[in-house]
Amino acid sequence: MRILITGGSGFIGSNFIRYMSGKYPSYELINFDKLTYSGNINNLSGLDNKNYKFIKGDICDKELLREVIKEGDVVVNFAAETHVDNSILDPGIFVMTNVLGVQSLLDVTRERKAKLFVQISTDEVYGSLDFSQKSSLEHHPLNPSSPYSASKAAAEMLCLACIKTFNQPIVITRSSNNFGPYQFPEKIIPLFVTNLLDGKKVPLYGDGRNIRDWIYVLDNCEAIDFVIHKGEPGEIYNVGGGNEIPNRELTKKILKEVGKGESFIELVEDRLGHDLRYSLDSSKINSLGWRPRFEFDKALKDTIEWYKNNKNWWEPLKYGSGRRTL
Ligand SMILES: NC(=O)c1ccc[n+]([C@@H]2O[C@H](COP(=O)([O-])OP(=O)(O)OC[C@H]3O[C@@H](n4cnc5c(N)ncnc54)[C@H](O)[C@@H]3O)[C@@H](O)[C@H]2O)c1
Repeated sequence: MRILITGGSGFIGSNFIRYMSGKYPSYELINFDKLTYSGNINNLSGLDNKNYKFIKGDICDKELLREVIKEGDVVVNFAAETHVDNSILDPGIFVMTNVLGVQSLLDVTRERKAKLFVQISTDEVYGSLDFSQKSSLEHHPLNPSSPYSASKAAAEMLCLACIKTFNQPIVITRSSNNFGPYQFPEKIIPLFVTNLLDGKKVPLYGDGRNIRDWIYVLDNCEAIDFVIHKGEPGEIYNVGGGNEIPNRELTKKILKEVGKGESFIELVEDRLGHDLRYSLDSSKINSLGWRPRFEFDKALKDTIEWYKNNKNWWEPLKYGSGRRTL
């Protein structure tokens, strides 16, 4: 199988390439990435696989995509602008990459007769749930709150249009919040861990009661693998970790693991439009045989350990010239 992984130098994409490379050494894996501030060539350093290749490129560049995508390819699209706070400051680039970039991929995968296009989406497209609402199912209406989630929802609509109009082989996964190694230190877990390791406070939005459902990144990689091999083209699959926890509780777990007290919490003004809760019902992908395997507390501990042991990876991103460009 030949798989083109767009955005493969980011957090989930690089974990996915490592996972697929280990499980299917004979697969051709082509990483197509623009290397924006969150894309890091070092995320795949040490990968020993002669069937792996890197191509620097933008998913908005249809000419380049035409050169790269071949008949029969599976294309998995991780490429995106991903940080909600950045989308509030500058939504334009989110529309460019997350919407127009996906349209380019849809056009070229159709032209080239790709076997399957997998669009990696997010639970954030459902918008905010209150504490008593049932978990979101795939047919529930989309109600995005941020420019980020709106751009991801827009991309999904374009995918659905291609499924209906052209019968194009596409699947969409909507996963909950991922955590694990190689996550850019702007997102809550690596931001808080790296701040604490440097003796700094952690900025907790609002009163910290917002709930997220956490999934260890390798569980998500396995779910995407399931969808590629067992998923039904035209379908959407929720991929939840089953670990709903308020941000304040998550923060306390991190503080405990790093050996710091609650005085290191700094409550800051809430994020604009901050969604209260996401919650996924994953029974559809469960019926394919997928279940998350990593236990949350253990995976969180291992993740924190990884950041403790890999300062060389995150310090240049946090403090050096390679940090965010927005
Ligand atoms: N991280 C999460 O918790 C989470 C949860 C649900 C869904 N997702 C989705 O998963 C995907 C990957 O997320 P992530 O956390 O790994 O993001 P990330 O920000 O770590 O990585 C994004 C990657 O996309 C690349 N990229 C950006 N614009 C590009 C372009 N125009 N052309 C080619 N490459 C480009 C970047 O260089 C980077 O390597 C995204 O689509 C995101 O919406 C993430």
